[in-house]
Amino acid sequence: MILITGGCGYLGSHCAVELIKLGYEVVVLDNLVNSDIKTFEKINFLTNKNNIFEKADITNHSDVAKIFKKYSFETVFHFAGLKSIVESIENPSKYFFNNLLGTILILEEMRKTSVKKIIFSSSATVYGNKFNPPWKEDLNLLMPNNPYAQTKYMIENILESIVSETNEFHVGILRYFNPIGAHRSGLLGEDIKKSVNLIPSILNSIINAQTLNVFGNDYDTIDGTAIRDYIHVSDLIDGHLKAFNYINKYNGFNIWNLGSGEGYSVKQIVNKFEMILGQKIPVRYQKRREGDLQEYWADITKAKLQLKWKVKYNLDDMIRDNLKSVNP
Ligand code: NAD
Ligand code: WQD
Repeated sequence: MILITGGCGYLGSHCAVELIKLGYEVVVLDNLVNSDIKTFEKINFLTNKNNIFEKADITNHSDVAKIFKKYSFETVFHFAGLKSIVESIENPSKYFFNNLLGTILILEEMRKTSVKKIIFSSSATVYGNKFNPPWKEDLNLLMPNNPYAQTKYMIENILESIVSETNEFHVGILRYFNPIGAHRSGLLGEDIKKSVNLIPSILNSIINAQTLNVFGNDYDTIDGTAIRDYIHVSDLIDGHLKAFNYINKYNGFNIWNLGSGEGYSVKQIVNKFEMILGQKIPVRYQKRREGDLQEYWADITKAKLQLKWKVKYNLDDMIRDNLKSVNP
């Protein structure tokens, strides 16, 4: 049995559907702080099955302990967490409490109930602002400069220490770059009302016929706007399944980047939306967003070679699926 924390969220829900379709029995755990129970109903619909949902907060030790006693887990896919860099700067303790304490409690209950495998949602933000792209897993990281990224960095280190204590532990850390796109049914996707990331902002500006703010057009890039590595959520989840196969075979501590390995500028993304939609998106250039980097993308050689994983979807697919998810 598999525990999926944050299983009603954007990425966790896609993962739940794929694991259930492969025949795994899963428990979807979420406190719904950034998601909706309707997503669980959609998971049931897409898998044609009545799955198990546990409404619980991973920072509530007794609830977490009860759930680990009630079921017999073999693996935890740990997606639950708060993910806004801006909010984490405004309220660091909220992020340390939720992401760090929540993870420590999950790890403690895993230890007590002898659950030895975990796939953890980390982030490209752990690379900080010190390295030139492409970013490779073996770079010597320093503590990043925002609390959100710090929680990911600290959890990676905690997992590494646990592995060095007990060689029975199987850890797969996945450093996501910029996951976008949505389920091909159009039923699952990111909650665009709650996000200020680029794709939700573009979708909101299309739906509400508003001007899109583009932060910075004076970067030293092909068109002056910032470059990121966007990856389709389905490719990202396929990476999880491949990492799961790997940690099922081998114990130890592993880190894999999950990105497409290619960078696109904000302007290129906007142009692609315009091309697919056949309409102009009005844009207003603003000053650079504080803390933003000029450009980064992933070195995905390790995941390609070790996991035999490759991305299947291109930027057109990602944007088509994003559009479908807001107008399925
Ligand atoms: P999301 O907000 O859509 O999903 C996270 C889920 O966790 C939500 O359903 C939320 O309700 C739940 N949750 C949060 N705190 C909880 C708690 N204390 N107890 C129980 N449930 C809790 O976010 P997502 O985009 O699906 O991201 C999933 C994970 O991947 C997060 O850990 C995030 O930091 C990480 N990540 C996301 C991205 C991205 O761009 N989406 C990039 C890198 C890393
Ligand atoms: C992309 C580019 C913005 C909104 C972070 C994390 C990453 C992942 C996703 C969690 C930047 C520009 C944006 C807008 C704009 N999350 N932009 N107008 O900051 O690259 O990545 O969130 O771990 O790991 O680092 O993503 O989508 O916010 O921004 O011009 O309305 O789009 O300035 O250059 P980011 P993003």
